[in-house]
Amino acid sequence: MKIAAVQRPFFSYPESYAPLNKKNSMSVPKFQGADIFCFKGNQKQNSSIIPSSNPTDLEVNIEEKTGIVPTETTVKKFKNGETYVNIAGDIRGKDVYLMPATGKNVNDNLMETYLKADAAKRAGADRVIAIMPNFDYARQEKRTEKGEPIAARLNMDLLKTSGVDEIITTDLHTPALEGFASNDMKVVHLESTQLMADYIKSKEIPDLVVVSPDLGGTKRADKLAKALECERAVVYKSRKAHNQATAEDLIGDVEGKNCVLIDDIIDTAGTIAEASKLLKKKGAKDIYVCAAHGLFNGDAMKKLSDAPIKEVVVTNSVPMKADSIDKIKQVDLSLAIAGAMKEISPDLRDNN
Ligand code: R5P
Repeated sequence: MKIAAVQRPFFSYPESYAPLNKKNSMSVPKFQGADIFCFKGNQKQNSSIIPSSNPTDLEVNIEEKTGIVPTETTVKKFKNGETYVNIAGDIRGKDVYLMPATGKNVNDNLMETYLKADAAKRAGADRVIAIMPNFDYARQEKRTEKGEPIAARLNMDLLKTSGVDEIITTDLHTPALEGFASNDMKVVHLESTQLMADYIKSKEIPDLVVVSPDLGGTKRADKLAKALECERAVVYKSRKAHNQATAEDLIGDVEGKNCVLIDDIIDTAGTIAEASKLLKKKGAKDIYVCAAHGLFNGDAMKKLSDAPIKEVVVTNSVPMKADSIDKIKQVDLSLAIAGAMKEISPDLRDNN
């Protein structure tokens, strides 16, 4: 039996919105004497990555460590704000990874991910894997007041509906979020605790105590304290309104100690700035901060700059802001994410 295999024709309309019927139509070539006709793309050959519009350091590092090839993709905006996505590369039968969009607006970024997943599935992707180092809406994982939605669950459902089969994420607000995914959707949850611990250890700081800036973060603080083999303390935090944190009291002893505050997210930096001031009042020496996701919104830079904090360490789950201050350092997640991709897609294992 003869099998004729050809590369799928390449269609690309990067500068215009091609009518869908024109884009999808292609003439199937005839092969004399072939019993079965198949496109090369139908065979499981490799994995592709749908890049973000502005590749971040994390994305470049992931591509370097896996050797994965970016697929030609167009993302545009209509005048009314709707997002347009076109994946021009051949992804039929492949594992397709999506890098998160990195625009300013979290909702636009998510919409772009949903559209890319939908486009990838319609273009014949075998599996769609969304790399979401910072899982948006994770903090709305329960109803704290009557009348609220559970936005984290909705986001997980929308990812599934749009065609995402698997998610690689890091430092979820709570590990229980994994349970929001349906049974046929896998979640790979990576944690940066060891990366942070290694960074802090490299500084050889004596008399350490790890501090959680709120009661919700005690488990995270426990893990870091275990890795650093030191005590931990907890700040009792309250909020008068969204993004307004007050550090009310401290459980534990920090007098004469160097402190490492650990949180999952620094958004407006109210939580961390207030906690650091309380620690100083309670007699702490130097204060370091570790946080997985540095969003740094509002006047976060000013708050961190004014706060009695020596250094802030975040991962590169979110690209560094242009106005970043010197005391903010980044650690790289690409090795862990590349490792997860190699577990999922065997063809990536041959690369460094
Ligand atoms: C809250 O539960 C989170 O763990 C963070 O503490 C919070 O999101 C930080 O927000 P902000 O920097 O605006 O205080």
